[in-house]
Parts: sequence; structure tokens; C-alpha cells
Amino acid sequence: MSSPLLEVQRLNKTFGRVVAAHNVDLAFQPGVLTSIIGPNGAGKSTLINLFSGSLAPDSGRVLFEGKDITHLPIHRRIRMGLCRSFQIVNVFPRLTVFDNVQIPLLALRKRARRLFRAVDREKDVHQEVVEILNRIGLAREVKTLASALSHGDQRLLEVGIALAAGPKLLFLDEPTAGMNSVERNKILENIKALSGEGWTTFVIVEHDMDIVFSLSERVIVLHHGVVIGDGTTEEIRNNPKVREVYLGEEVME
Ligand SMILES: Nc1ncnc2c1ncn2[C@@H]1O[C@H](COP(=O)(O)OP(=O)(O)OP(=O)(O)O)[C@@H](O)[C@H]1O
Ligand SMILES: [Mg+2]
Repeated sequence: MSSPLLEVQRLNKTFGRVVAAHNVDLAFQPGVLTSIIGPNGAGKSTLINLFSGSLAPDSGRVLFEGKDITHLPIHRRIRMGLCRSFQIVNVFPRLTVFDNVQIPLLALRKRARRLFRAVDREKDVHQEVVEILNRIGLAREVKTLASALSHGDQRLLEVGIALAAGPKLLFLDEPTAGMNSVERNKILENIKALSGEGWTTFVIVEHDMDIVFSLSERVIVLHHGVVIGDGTTEEIRNNPKVREVYLGEEVME
């Protein structure tokens, strides 16, 4: 097995009396499309916050490609290739689709500025934005204002914004939330295709079990901040602890 992109060791986080993460040990290998599931309040978003640096753990360590990043700020993690999207739509509504992707791309390129002549740089960025929009299926919407996109396409655009950072590992927090089934299928097909390209490793938080079981190579189950299951879809279906948490939900059948 290759070495993990991200590894967390005995990660803990509480909010008052609420245990949001309890002794979480996890490793994410490159190329494995993974879902994180669990009931509301299980600690899924908290975990992503701890991985991405939005939250500091009470204790434990976060390693990215073997380096300790537990205390690194968000932007440094992004530069290393560790990115996330949010549970709530997070695009710039008054900007075009093109600019939504171009702005983060330019921001990240700032450091490389001296390496290129301005003209080359701009051509390069323009091409890269178009390429990203092609990959997420929004190339025809370059001039559309983000606010005019459907909810599903706004979420796709978020994936595009995240891809602009060239992530090695990308966490998507409920990318299908609030979508109709057509939009859902579109974004899932996209995630599957992008994952298949092999550049970015995707980890998604998802509530819909049909989606989880059809999409994922690996499923992680959280309950009260504890990892109660971690394995293939088949292993998760047959995990007694997981079945107990989802008891009565025929979706496990
Ligand atoms: N900033 C915060 N301050 C206080 N409590 C918080 C905070 N963030 C999360 N919590 C609590 O921690 C627990 C885990 O929350 P979290 O948002 O991680 O769950 P989740 O699995 O993402 O849930 P959902 O499926 O509803 O998105 C919940 O009880 C939540 O109320
Ligand atoms: Mg959440």
C-alpha cells in the first residue's frame, strides 16, 4: 500500500460537553474514493474542519504526506494540496463562473509571479480556468453569473474553485445537499470522473446511502465523534455496530 496523503492520530475535539471527535485514527491513501457517513451531529463536518485547519484539535496529530501540519494555518495546508468545500454553498454570486475559478487560481499563482512573463502567465491561467470548467462540465457557462446557476451547478462550481488549488486531497462536505436527482447524478458522475483522472483524491460527506454505496471504494462511519466502521461498502453493510446505528433504515439492505 502506498503511503497515506493524510493521517490523523488520536484526534480529539469537544465543544463543552459534546464530544465531536474522540480518539480518531484515520489514514487516507491516494486514489481511494471515500465517503464519510453518520447521523446528524456525528462529527463529520468537525472532522473536515480539523483536517483542513478550520478547527484546532484538543489533542492529537494531523500529518500530511508525513509532515506534521497540526498547527499549520488553512492557507498553508491548501498550498500543500489539502483542500475542502463547505456544507453551505460558497461561491461568489456576483462574479461570473470564469472569475470564480480564475480568482483563486491567480491568488495561488501570486508566489510564482516572478517565474513567468505577465502575458504568458495570463494565457496560462486562462487556459487552466477553461480546462477546469471543462472538467466540471460548466465550460458553456463561462460568462454566466454564479448567482444565475442552478443550485446543482453552483455546487459543481465549488468543486471547480477547489480544483483551482490543484488539490491532492479534496474533502467535499455534502456536495449533493439540496439537489434534485438530476443534479445529484450530474455532480456524482463528475466526482467519479475526476477521481478516475487520478490527480485528486476525493473524500465526501454524504447522507444518501444509495449514493454512498454506489460511489465509494471505502466508507467511514462516525457516531458521537467515534469511528465505528471503516471499510469497503460490503464490510460496512455487514458491520453490526453500523447496522445498530442505522437500525430500521432499510437502506442498509
Ligand atoms: N463550533 C461549534 N460550537 C459548538 N458545538 C459545535 C460546533 N461545531 C459542531 N458542534 C457540535 O458538535 C457535534 C458535531 O457536529 P458536526 O457539525 O461535526 O456534525 P455533522 O456530522 O457534520 O452533522 P450534520 O450531518 O448535521 O452536518 C454536534 O453536536 C454539533 O452541535
Ligand atoms: Mg456536517
